[in-house]
Amino acid sequence: MSQPRPPRSPGHPPSSRSPAGQRIAVYPGSFDPIHLGHLDLIERCRGLFDVLYVAVLSNDTKRSLFSVEERLDMIRQMTKGYPECRVESFSGLLVDFMDQVGARVVVRGLRAVSDFDYEFQMALMNRKLNSRVETVFMVPKDDLTYVSSRLLKEVCSLGGDLSSFLPDIIWQRLKQRLAPAAKSEHA
Ligand code: PNS
Repeated sequence: MSQPRPPRSPGHPPSSRSPAGQRIAVYPGSFDPIHLGHLDLIERCRGLFDVLYVAVLSNDTKRSLFSVEERLDMIRQMTKGYPECRVESFSGLLVDFMDQVGARVVVRGLRAVSDFDYEFQMALMNRKLNSRVETVFMVPKDDLTYVSSRLLKEVCSLGGDLSSFLPDIIWQRLKQRLAPAAKSEHA
C-alpha cells in the first residue's frame, strides 16, 4: 500500500502548472543578439513546457547593439516553427511579467561556474519578490558553453568568423551592423 505523501513545507508551490493546467515558463534575457547557445536552450525547453515565453528586456540600462524590435524580429524568425514559443518584450520586474502571462518558472542557462553567483542572486531575489516563482537552470550543449552575445560582438567587430556560433541570418545581420565600424577603424 502506498504511503501518504508528507505535507509540503509552507510556501512551497504545489505545482508548476498555471491555473489552466499549463506549464508556462519564461526564458528572459537581453538576446543582443540571439545565438546558438540560446537556441539550444529553447530547443531543450520544448517538450518540458506547454508554453515558453522568450522575453526580451526592453528597459535595460546597458547599451544594446540591436533595438528591442530588431531582437524580437530575429528571435521570431528563429522560433517560427515552434508553436509553443511566444516572443515578447517586457519592462520592469521579471516577476511582474511572469504574473501577467501566468508563468511560474524562469529558465536560465548556466554555462560556467562564473555565471553562478549572478544567477544564484537573481534566482533568490526573484523568489523573494514572488515566492511562487521557481528558477530552472539548464546547461547548453558542451561546445556552446563559452558562447555569449558580448563575446560574439567583440569577435565580430574585430573581423572574426562566427558562422559556427550563429544562425546564418543572425550572422549576416551582426556583420552588417558591426562590419562598417570595424572597416573604418582599420582604414
Ligand atoms: O541576458 P541577461 O542580460 O543576463 O538577462 C538578464 C535579465 C533580463 C534576465 C535580468 O536583468 C532581469 O530579469 N531583468 C528584469 C528586472 C528584474 O526583474 N530585476 C530583478 C531580478 S533579480
